[in-house]
Amino acid sequence: MKKFLIFALVLTFVVGMLLIGTACKEGEKEAEEATKEVGDITVVVIGKSVHPYWSNVETGVMDAKEDIGADAVFWVPTEEDIAAQISTMETYIAQEVDGIAVAPSDPEAMGPYIKKAMDAGIPTITLDTDAPDSERLCYVGTSNKAAGVEAGEAMIELLPDGGTVSIGTGSLTAMNSLERIEGFEEAIEGTDITVIEPINNDGEDSTKALELANSTLVANPDLAGAFGVYAYNGPAWAKAVKEQGVAGDVKIVAFDATDEHIEYLKEDVIHVLVAQREYFQGYKSVELLTLMAQKGIDEAMEEYGVPDSKIVDTGVNIVTHEGLEEYAETLEELGIPFDWEP
Ligand code: BGC
Repeated sequence: MKKFLIFALVLTFVVGMLLIGTACKEGEKEAEEATKEVGDITVVVIGKSVHPYWSNVETGVMDAKEDIGADAVFWVPTEEDIAAQISTMETYIAQEVDGIAVAPSDPEAMGPYIKKAMDAGIPTITLDTDAPDSERLCYVGTSNKAAGVEAGEAMIELLPDGGTVSIGTGSLTAMNSLERIEGFEEAIEGTDITVIEPINNDGEDSTKALELANSTLVANPDLAGAFGVYAYNGPAWAKAVKEQGVAGDVKIVAFDATDEHIEYLKEDVIHVLVAQREYFQGYKSVELLTLMAQKGIDEAMEEYGVPDSKIVDTGVNIVTHEGLEEYAETLEELGIPFDWEP
């Protein structure tokens, strides 16, 4: 009995020491990871489609890369393609990069891969469009519901007597699109503006967006307004109203302010823009992920001022033809590059 007790005590001691040893090693590993040198850090930003909007995000990514000195990779599929986004996530998880920012075209489908990255010790955040039910650490981008409400309010001002409005979008799974539509519809509730069903969904294919805009105009000669949810939807509506000879008559409210949008705004073919700050989405994603690799997740989130909501709101501007000069000044103040003349 005595021998057994001694044996049990020795065993407990040995197991205890082993456990302490492992815990220390893990602690060291964490500390090691959290103090990575900036030059050894690689972060990845995965976008949604090839478009000047995403080129602006890429500029933000590359500027941050240069300013900070970490390596940053930017990738987008040609058009809405959740399968391609997932396989790209898997590639970078296997490469053990130091951080990933992803704009999921389908938050539910992407959820398990965000978890996979987090389980592999890769801090993962979302940008442009969120996946709040996933394990992502935070979201960097527009508050899309609120921005959708602003779009709806702009339409109410443009159509004080009401009328039929059509909505064109590139996704009916991505959260940013759904929230913008929800916000827009909430804003116009109780007014004489009615939305045509179904909503046009082009899957982020700009050729299809134009076809859908044209066929909607042909089928609805009394169309009073059009809402462009994604960056190429506004220009698609603009081209279509020109082709159908109703430019100016159909009031267009559109997200984003690429050079093409600005041209249509100057021509008074598009009437109001909800301009996102996509440059910041790219820049801030790289900044925050790099900080996480340098200092660990908690310290980085605190230092960066990520709020409890886990939403880093990059903000929007409501832009009209008359307000272009002011908008240009705002961009200059914010340090967002642009190459159009007001
Ligand atoms: C959206 C992106 C989309 C882009 C181009 C933007 O308005 O925020 O999610 O990929 O338009 O379609």
